[in-house]
Amino acid sequence: MAADLTWLEQADLSRRNTLGLPGKARFLAVVRSEAALHEVLSSVPAARLPVTIWGGGSNIVLQGDVDGLVIVMAIAGIRVCSREGDDVLLAAGAGESWHGLTRTTLAMGLSGLENLSLIPGTVGAAPVQNIGAYGVEIKDVLASVRAWDRETSQWVTLSAADCGFAYRDSVFKSVAPGRYIITEVTFRLSASLQPTLRMGYGDIRQWHEQQGIVRPTANTVAQAVIAIRSSKLPDPARIGNAGSFFKNPVIPVAQADQLRQRFPALVGHVQPDGVKVAAGWLIEQAGWKGLRRGAVGVHDRQALVLVHEGGGRGSELLALAADIRASVHEMFGIELEQEPVILGRP
Ligand code: EPU
Repeated sequence: MAADLTWLEQADLSRRNTLGLPGKARFLAVVRSEAALHEVLSSVPAARLPVTIWGGGSNIVLQGDVDGLVIVMAIAGIRVCSREGDDVLLAAGAGESWHGLTRTTLAMGLSGLENLSLIPGTVGAAPVQNIGAYGVEIKDVLASVRAWDRETSQWVTLSAADCGFAYRDSVFKSVAPGRYIITEVTFRLSASLQPTLRMGYGDIRQWHEQQGIVRPTANTVAQAVIAIRSSKLPDPARIGNAGSFFKNPVIPVAQADQLRQRFPALVGHVQPDGVKVAAGWLIEQAGWKGLRRGAVGVHDRQALVLVHEGGGRGSELLALAADIRASVHEMFGIELEQEPVILGRP
């Protein structure tokens, strides 16, 4: 067996998902090269069983064992593809850690990823749900994606437009799930270290004011994001979580106006398609913030984050999520949509 491929059977997944939920994979292959990926895809388990691609497991609710083949994408490598003035194209292997990539690019003097600091997970998983934070989404800085197309059995290069990005969504997640296996992502970055992207986000501006920084750089923005995230979001290395558990719902302007009459403090931002309401605010108003139910609960500093303290099961977390959705619906008439993907047999 090649050194860039590791096969396991009945592999424990509990340390491979940031919620720390229990479950096993019948077969698990860790691939560290495109050749290893090919070898796995032409194996007997891949021909006979459903295949799931796995990154850092930071957007997964594991409800139990995964009966098929899990391919853990571990292709490494970061390289500059081209440089023209301040414009730099940089490619990263799908198995690189996302936060590691943001640190590396800043150390190389490149800006573009700073607002997306400290997001758990891998580079290959980032386009799947179009990760976003503090006014920036990966779609804003992504040049292209290299992937194996399982439908046509070909290598393809998809442009940002091909990826069909939307809020926490892409073709990889909703239109053609399972079709593409991302092996490399190329970014359009800038060698200027100017904070390229939106300083307008309140928390980031306030952090700079508090620090007395008048001329922000990409590095100070990254510091701000790290400080803000650390103060609100639980560290998955210490408390099991999958970041935001629900999307922020977008509701019609008329519905938001009506709700504001009953709830003047409603937190929402007008967008082209309606009003995006802070789901964390809705959940907090419904009384869930900081609540514990056995091994699972709602984070005490950010109600949009569900936590698992250890010893629980995916079904307990999903039952809690269902109760939260029902009570938010009852109180506000708003349907919350879950963000992480559910995997495994209940
Ligand atoms: N809020 C509350 N109570 C809470 C939480 C939030 O009232 O318990 C209100 C506050 O008014 C706050 C507002 O909601 O000002 C927004 O909260 P926050 O800035 O924490 O952001 P969010 O809308 O809850 C989104 C993303 C996060 C991202 C942050 C920062 C989604 C689903 N989540 O959260 O992304 O880090 O903005 O940009 O869009 C993730 O997707 O996993 C994630 C963490």
